[in-house]
Amino acid sequence: MAKEIAVTDMTVDQAREALARLSALLGQANRDYHGADAPNISDAEYDRHKRRNAEIEARFPELKREDSPTEQVGAAPTEGFGKIAHKVAMLSLGNAFDDQDVADFDERIRKYLGMGSEPLAFTAEPKIDGLSLSIRYENGKMVYAATRGDGSTGEDVTANARTIADIPQSIANAPEVLEVRGEVYMSHADFEALNARIAEENERLEAVGKKPKTVFANPRNAAAGSLRQLDAQISRERPLKFFAYAWGDLSEPLADTQMGAISRFQSFGFVINDLTKVCDSPEALISHYKLIEERRATLGYDIDGVVYKVNDLALQERLGFRSTTPRWAIAHKFPAELAWTRLEAIDIQVGRTGALSPVARLAPVTVGGVVVSNATLHNEDYIAGRDSKGAIIRDGKDIREGDWVQVYRAGDVIPKIADVDLSKRPDAAPPYEFPELCPECGSPAVREEGDAVRYCTGGMICAAQAVERLKHFVARKALDIEGLGTKQIEMFYEDTDLPIKTPADIFTLALRDGTNLTKLANRKGWKDKSVANLFAAIEDKRDIDFARLLFGLGIRHVGETAAKDLALHYLTWNDMSEAAEKARPAALAWRSADLAEDRERVAAQTEGRRAKVKESRDAAMATHEVSAEAQAAWDDLTGIDGIGAAVGLSLNDAFANERERSEIDRLVGMLTVVSPDAPTQDSPVAGKTVVFTGSLEKMTRAEAKARAEALGAKVSGSVSKKTDLLVAGPGAGSKAKKAVDLGIETIDEDGWLTLIEGL
Ligand code: IVH
Repeated sequence: MAKEIAVTDMTVDQAREALARLSALLGQANRDYHGADAPNISDAEYDRHKRRNAEIEARFPELKREDSPTEQVGAAPTEGFGKIAHKVAMLSLGNAFDDQDVADFDERIRKYLGMGSEPLAFTAEPKIDGLSLSIRYENGKMVYAATRGDGSTGEDVTANARTIADIPQSIANAPEVLEVRGEVYMSHADFEALNARIAEENERLEAVGKKPKTVFANPRNAAAGSLRQLDAQISRERPLKFFAYAWGDLSEPLADTQMGAISRFQSFGFVINDLTKVCDSPEALISHYKLIEERRATLGYDIDGVVYKVNDLALQERLGFRSTTPRWAIAHKFPAELAWTRLEAIDIQVGRTGALSPVARLAPVTVGGVVVSNATLHNEDYIAGRDSKGAIIRDGKDIREGDWVQVYRAGDVIPKIADVDLSKRPDAAPPYEFPELCPECGSPAVREEGDAVRYCTGGMICAAQAVERLKHFVARKALDIEGLGTKQIEMFYEDTDLPIKTPADIFTLALRDGTNLTKLANRKGWKDKSVANLFAAIEDKRDIDFARLLFGLGIRHVGETAAKDLALHYLTWNDMSEAAEKARPAALAWRSADLAEDRERVAAQTEGRRAKVKESRDAAMATHEVSAEAQAAWDDLTGIDGIGAAVGLSLNDAFANERERSEIDRLVGMLTVVSPDAPTQDSPVAGKTVVFTGSLEKMTRAEAKARAEALGAKVSGSVSKKTDLLVAGPGAGSKAKKAVDLGIETIDEDGWLTLIEGL
């Protein structure tokens, strides 16, 4: 090898050339290491090249390349896959953990559909512990296959999916458009063989001083790693399997029942799980669950529960979806796996709302194939051995630092603590004292009566809260600003020259950077291109969807759904903020009346007399002067279906709190808030405000509401001047009368059905 020039002696040209060579060399080494079987340089050599590259860059920062190896973190970039937007979202499933949850599932469905005790059949089938895949066929030919991703967009893994023998490349007699969904998994035998192959190869690598490859922790990881492998050849060498169990986009229905649809898949050449069975009662579901549980150990692949689905597809259609899960299916999980470990410390995390959340730091332990080192401790009562209602849990055993604890994981949820081994508790271990001051900002942390959680009262002065609020603001479901994630928010929050302390600061960042001496582009970790990208991503969000913005503000109780409901109701930001402001006196009266009512109840109970709830409520109300206008604004706000007093109050608090309001106004002043799309459907009820009252006979209230909303109507719980239509069933009372007084059109259930017929 030619002698290397010392970095200190290099000319600019030599440095540029050296950086180009090193970038190519290290890039190749990365690809070899992650892709092909044998890396061609040793770790020591690799590290030496990387150091030299960094030294040259330090001396000639202006020569740093776009593809600089210092910016690359080894792993194969996931950007390597194209993105595919799912035509029908890929959802997850709600969970059931015991027999009662299964009975409740059946009950909930009957109630939603307004069914009595007539038979209701379900399918029951193993829940495969792999990763879901959606495969699209057009005219019988596979066109693409995509992973679930975030549910709406997945990764294009077509080339790899084509290597899976269980997935047909073409199908005879298929509908014109067919998306088959199911689970990609690896069998135990193949998983062990793969790991054995890696181990064998590692011996070879180690013999020549090269870095060994990591073996996979479990079959699921192995399947995911193999499917999401950029090199389809490697995918081909790793045997993956596939069970078909669901579908997405279709040009025509597959069958009348779930079971029928699954049989169609089989006729198309897919593999379906032979433990799929139709069961006609919750009891039958549970007995099939037990059978599957007994067979679990000998199946040869991992499963983590049993999935139940309503068999009748017309009923599935009527039941529809909640925001992320279908109403017609549920996953009955197997009991979680358990492991004992030492609890090393209890940390307190301060969240966006100021809630103090205790977290257990654990000596790492493997639970069901995953290494766990943290577990949630919920709140101070939980640590003390009580639940939120004061009932004893864990036989009343409290949790202390240094304890031996039993940890469990149920599905994807955060690990929890099931038990404490008191015999192993060190004699001197004191009970855990929950802090009464915020560990982040030192402000008092208070716990209100009836509340399980202690909150920091520091508000905006508490850095932890401010940072969490910012993280929430830029998160995917809120503003979704690319390139501004958790890491960057933490960095900017601490930055003295270019700080981001509030959401509005994000939108002045580029402007401030322009006049700044220590420009972002000159700093470590930033390049002209990454700065330009960040500023463009921020600019891109200056026109922002109403509901996203509102959700992003992180107002207590205003989640994604409430934000959407509010946006749909008020349509413009101005109308909403004005309404919240106008409603203020009525909101205050409501809160004080509510407190008075609570107080009266408690006093009456201790004094052993009947509570005069209404009187104390009225008295408290009377102390507030509430104009008709304020009352109407409050009634309108809390009358929005799905928005109750809790949302109303916290929305009102946010808009009436001077500091918070001026921050919100400053932010909104820099943005263009985009109103929700006026319902475009050709539906006679689109954009109309509809109220249902009385009893409905052909559908339940919940179903009627979901259907009306799907047709673009707003459903409200109370009749007001804004109501366009009242649907009144038998037994309708005051609402029907009010509608007559206000001259609002009133129809019965049949009239409603005729109106929306065929839609
Ligand atoms: S049905 C609309 N059936 O579980 C929901 N899912 O926790 C369609 N899964 O993302 C899913 N086995 O990856 C269904 N037999 C089965 C399943 C199954 C495994 C996975 C699937 C889904 C996740 C939800």
